[in-house]
Amino acid sequence: MRTPIIAANWKMHKTVAEAKDFCRAFLASYEPDGGEVVLCPPFTALGAVAELLQGTEVKLGAQDLFWEEKGAYTGEIAPGMLVDVGCHYVIIGHSERRGYFGETDADVNRKVRAALAHDLKPIICLGESLEQREAGQTEKVVTAQVRSAYEGIDASLAAGTVIAYEPIWAIGTGRNATPEEANRVIGLIRQTIADIYDEETAGQIRIQYGGSVNKENIAQFMEQPEIDGALVGGASLDPAGFAVIARGGRS
Ligand code: PGA
Repeated sequence: MRTPIIAANWKMHKTVAEAKDFCRAFLASYEPDGGEVVLCPPFTALGAVAELLQGTEVKLGAQDLFWEEKGAYTGEIAPGMLVDVGCHYVIIGHSERRGYFGETDADVNRKVRAALAHDLKPIICLGESLEQREAGQTEKVVTAQVRSAYEGIDASLAAGTVIAYEPIWAIGTGRNATPEEANRVIGLIRQTIADIYDEETAGQIRIQYGGSVNKENIAQFMEQPEIDGALVGGASLDPAGFAVIARGGRS
């Protein structure tokens, strides 16, 4: 049995004060039920959120990292710095990073390896664009992204990683993939992991769906056999709503 994992990707939202307010309100209404929940605030709020999450079951994640340990890389954040501030998870290869900041599949692989070398669990984002979907390339694109992300990574480490399947056309658009379609592509991603490694590893990796998930539709995604959780953007900014999502929509 895979433990469900629901992660909040706040993107470039919330000051330190707003992040603290969120945590207080969220922790007051969220009732843990055995699933894993991860908050990924912007870098500037990591320390404050870490403090408020101490002693709770909610984990901390970052939205990106750089693969070098330290050095002259102005503006970048090293894996060890994320561990130091209390992160357990790190989002890697989000489509906004790939699209706006030119991150390539090779960069994503370097970042995944750097995260794993520091015991940070990567949440590896991938998914096709609308053009690719309409051209019938979804399978090809997603398979290539998975193969590249895991290059040079041992099965034992791969098993602890998380993948977020986020079709780009569904992100922030209110146009989610149907649960059945998300389940189908996620099944294909799991099969790709089985081809790279083995069935056991494929059975352990948790794969989330992301793209316009909200408190109304989360339960339908969680019902799908291949879907192990969600990466939630816009709907993760509201503490009461995210408390519902964090339980997979179960009241
Ligand atoms: P969304 O974003 O929930 O606002 O669609 C998801 C994501 O980008 O991770």
